[in-house]
Amino acid sequence: MKKSSNYYFSGVDTVALAQKYGTPLYVVSEDIIREKIGVIRKSFLDKYPGTKAFYASKAFLTQRMCKILIDENIGVDAVSSGEIYTALKAGVKPEHIVFHGNNKTFDDLTYAISNHVGKIVVDSMSEIELLSGLVPGLDRKVNLLIRTNPSIEAETHQYMNTARKDSKFGISLNELQDAVKLINASENLHYSGLHFHIGSQLFKIDFYLEAIRKIVARMKEIKDQLQIDTEVLNIGGGYGVDYIEKEKTVDFSEFMDTIVNELNRLLKENELKMADLYVEPGRWIIANAGITLYSVGTIKEIPGIRTFVSVDGGMPDNIRPSLYGAKYSAVVANKADQPKEELVTIAGKCCETGDVLIYDICLPKLERGDYLAVLDTGAYNYSMSNHYNMTPKPALVFVKNGEDELSIRRQTYDDLLSCEIIDEDA
Ligand SMILES: Cc1ncc(COP(=O)(O)O)c(C=O)c1O
Repeated sequence: MKKSSNYYFSGVDTVALAQKYGTPLYVVSEDIIREKIGVIRKSFLDKYPGTKAFYASKAFLTQRMCKILIDENIGVDAVSSGEIYTALKAGVKPEHIVFHGNNKTFDDLTYAISNHVGKIVVDSMSEIELLSGLVPGLDRKVNLLIRTNPSIEAETHQYMNTARKDSKFGISLNELQDAVKLINASENLHYSGLHFHIGSQLFKIDFYLEAIRKIVARMKEIKDQLQIDTEVLNIGGGYGVDYIEKEKTVDFSEFMDTIVNELNRLLKENELKMADLYVEPGRWIIANAGITLYSVGTIKEIPGIRTFVSVDGGMPDNIRPSLYGAKYSAVVANKADQPKEELVTIAGKCCETGDVLIYDICLPKLERGDYLAVLDTGAYNYSMSNHYNMTPKPALVFVKNGEDELSIRRQTYDDLLSCEIIDEDA
């Protein structure tokens, strides 16, 4: 069948999707998710023994996403009890979950332990103390990784920089031995290994290599001074993707080859046992797998300054541009074959000057009623969506090999009010 000049995503006509489900609309491609996981499998999991991948579920989490992960045998990195709950509810095995967070509460830890979550990644000495008081009497040991702060100044937005010295995350390298001692002083806690996550949207491997060198030196100290092996090294996520033309998605295979070679070399040089290697990609798996469809509304031309094209969504469905200046590209879904001849700014509909999705993008001439597809919105869009200006959350559709399926229905105004308690008699 001859395709129209509309923009197709995973073999599906996005204009037809917008008309069928309304806009704004999140569209997620199962094909792309599986393709990305396929690369991770081939270039890392199947290639190197002792490796595991945990999808960073904060990037995008639904039960359907979990079912894909289960099918692909990929674990889940969760950062809240709600994320653990979602994963368990979808059927993820608890041992396939790692639990993060810089301020896990007593209730969070109790929930994770009682549900037999595979590994808890402790983030502070105070969390280890909290756990030490929680586990006595347990009939087993709880496996812990220590999130380290390797003090790395990575090149990314400061809000996505998570391993610099001045960060709320992680235990400093100088405190590591004390942390290991504190863990092993408790009968029911077991030190399994170390974790770091340098930041998000990183393109240079040097930051990972610098962190690995610092960490292996500490593994050596832990071995020599405490006679304890580090069984696992979890190097987090952060692998960058191409939102705009000048960016280039990290070549995962090349990254992992370099990381594994350097790690093996360092372990050998330091006469350390081979540690299992975990990764936690979020964005790299899901960003390119999502688009958001909008309808074009008001167009305001300010001569000599700019043309604002407003769409029917904005910061409630994608807060990243206003939160940290994230950049996106877009296509006009119903004019995909037309020349880009107009420089415009895509504004959201919220009552905030900062509610702009894309500054200065060249697109075909736009009119009210056109459909705009903002690309690569799979990561941290749906998961960060909110109700600002009492905006119901958009519907979410999965597409796969030319077929579409509604996965999350559009919220109603009643959904927005559903948790409010009103005394009708008052
Ligand atoms: C501990 C940890 N692991 C993994 C990730 C995933 O990062 P990304 O989506 O950039 O791969 C994050 C993101 O904040 C994180 O905090």
